[in-house]
Amino acid sequence: MSNTQSVLLVGAGGVWGRPLLDQFIKQKSSFKRIAILARDENHAEKFSDAKSQGVEIVLGSFLDSASYKGFDVVMSLVGNALLRLQPAMIQAASAGGVTHFYPGEWNSDIDQPEIANMRYFRDEQATRAQCHATAQENPNFKYTIFITGIFTEWTLMFGWDHEKKSAVVYGDPKKRIGSTSIPDIARYTVDSLLIPFKADDNAFPNRRTLRVQGGSKPYGELVADLEAARGIKYTVEYRDPAEALQLQEKARQGGDEAGEMFWSIRTLPASGYGVADGVEKGKLDNRLFNFTPETQTETLMRFWGGQK
Ligand SMILES: NC(=O)c1ccc[n+]([C@@H]2O[C@H](COP(=O)([O-])OP(=O)(O)OC[C@H]3O[C@@H](n4cnc5c(N)ncnc54)[C@H](OP(=O)(O)O)[C@@H]3O)[C@@H](O)[C@H]2O)c1
Repeated sequence: MSNTQSVLLVGAGGVWGRPLLDQFIKQKSSFKRIAILARDENHAEKFSDAKSQGVEIVLGSFLDSASYKGFDVVMSLVGNALLRLQPAMIQAASAGGVTHFYPGEWNSDIDQPEIANMRYFRDEQATRAQCHATAQENPNFKYTIFITGIFTEWTLMFGWDHEKKSAVVYGDPKKRIGSTSIPDIARYTVDSLLIPFKADDNAFPNRRTLRVQGGSKPYGELVADLEAARGIKYTVEYRDPAEALQLQEKARQGGDEAGEMFWSIRTLPASGYGVADGVEKGKLDNRLFNFTPETQTETLMRFWGGQK
């Protein structure tokens, strides 16, 4: 595919946005335009480095269709607090002429019935529904659902105290966890614009689902990888996920949305459903891309190795 695509990134300064932006800069010659949407001059300043490397800065709101004029592709990299606004973003992008949208996903396979109704993924499900509705109204609008499992660098994060070398995990160490390293997810994502768009099926003729994964293994083995990388032992306590769900409900009743999200996601990594190949084990799209991702062991060694 020649360099005809103009890409706009929304939320490019976040945890995931930054490494993706870096990858776009590396592959800049493959695209007609790479741009970042910044809500005002203050926020635009954060991207002066990218600007000096040829990335455009567009000032505007992601709820305004004018922000999207002249762009074919939009990737939404906004964080949890804004996911609920994505349906409005999609309507604005479609009205602004965008023909290919990547909603905030890069996560586990939320098609799995066991996690389809998880609180953590509520707004991602609503966003998928909006993408589908928009595609039905506007046949030129297509979208890519990018499924990667958990970011490997983030797998042993929530509930973990890396100074005290201890963790409380809600789940079972024998259950599988699937993950991909952040640099590899960035590369897969950018490369996905350079391969032909192949829609899923007739029920979703404008949707492409891509499932990639660096690897999967029992959660307990990932913990062993961390211990090997750091050369130390951890004390890990495994608890019943029902306890976390009670805390999630308490947070909901207290109007604490961040707390709801926090307790909800605590039940995922050691559940067996925090994987990219959930619907059909081993069914992945890694073969569509011409590089080999880091294994989970390699990523944990790179990320944690040498940290005492
Ligand atoms: N699978 C995994 O393990 C995993 C892990 C992390 C993230 N993710 C996925 O990655 C995506 C992004 O998450 P994140 O954690 O990277 O989010 P984040 O760090 O919270 O980043 C959100 C970004 O959105 C920007 N933003 C906020 N309001 C904005 C506005 N009005 N206009 C333009 N930009 C605005 C923020 O800018 P300011 O900083 O200027 O406010 C920030 O740069 C989500 O889809 C998430 O599911 C997946």
